[in-house]
Amino acid sequence: MVKDLHVTLSGVELQNPVIPASGTFGFGQEFRPYYDINMLGSISFKGTTREARFGNPTPRIAECPAGMLNSVGLQNPGVDHVIAEELPRLREVFHQPIMANISGFSVEDYVTAVEKLTQEEQVALLEINISCPNVRHGGMAFGTSPEAAAEITGAVKRVATKPVYMKLSPNVTDIVSIAKACEDAGADGLSLINTLLGMRIDLKRRKPVLANIMGGYSGPGIFPVALRMVYQVTGAVKIPVIGMGGISSARDVLEMMMAGAKAVEVGAANLVDPCACKTIIETLPQEMEKLGIERLTDITRVE
Ligand code: SIN
Repeated sequence: MVKDLHVTLSGVELQNPVIPASGTFGFGQEFRPYYDINMLGSISFKGTTREARFGNPTPRIAECPAGMLNSVGLQNPGVDHVIAEELPRLREVFHQPIMANISGFSVEDYVTAVEKLTQEEQVALLEINISCPNVRHGGMAFGTSPEAAAEITGAVKRVATKPVYMKLSPNVTDIVSIAKACEDAGADGLSLINTLLGMRIDLKRRKPVLANIMGGYSGPGIFPVALRMVYQVTGAVKIPVIGMGGISSARDVLEMMMAGAKAVEVGAANLVDPCACKTIIETLPQEMEKLGIERLTDITRVE
């Protein structure tokens, strides 16, 4: 059963729409013992900042019945190390387009990291995270105001030579207004949603489970929220949207694409089953067959 899984994002062709979400796949190496990562559509690597970051104090993970909370705090080795060490190692084993996920705490932070990563040959797409809920300054603060989102988008677009996808926060009343602000400021596409701000309390200690008190909720529990937001945003903008939030099966991929997404990212599922993306890609043709779908690009937005 041969099915056409190709999708295109701003002129960048992917062999299939499945992209491990930033922060759930490192820089790919940890997953190599489990399968040939070259089968993925792309990889969105760990959110990279201008300087190296140690991240938040532990505990920074809390399990929940239908997902998990994280308050990692953008731990990463910094853009120079990523370019010198991680990208060359990844290049040896991964020959598909790479998506560079970039975070920052000021406009200058974003611009500096983009200026460097946009020059990397295998980096085909830039995903600008304006939605991290786990840092006090920057992060989500940029993604919860249309003006700030537009400012970062405009600044990054001025230096980027690759398509710019702004990664949006669901922790807003009106995600459509943020999406439109990014589109108007020149974004080539959007990624949504990042995690939902949440919290757990340890009953015995009567204290928050997470050292940072709150964290970002991800996993199957957020799928209907993500789907709703992707549907609303794709109905309001013309630029492509990458849908994410709780995707854990091929059927979820098809549902997200029917909501309007051109490709998808798989996040928390990688932490439950390291082969989640492999299984999704391998079972997509069977699920398409059951639904009479020949090409993924044939899936039209349901009205
Ligand atoms: C983190 O590193 O805190 C997670 C990144 C994010 O949610 O944007």
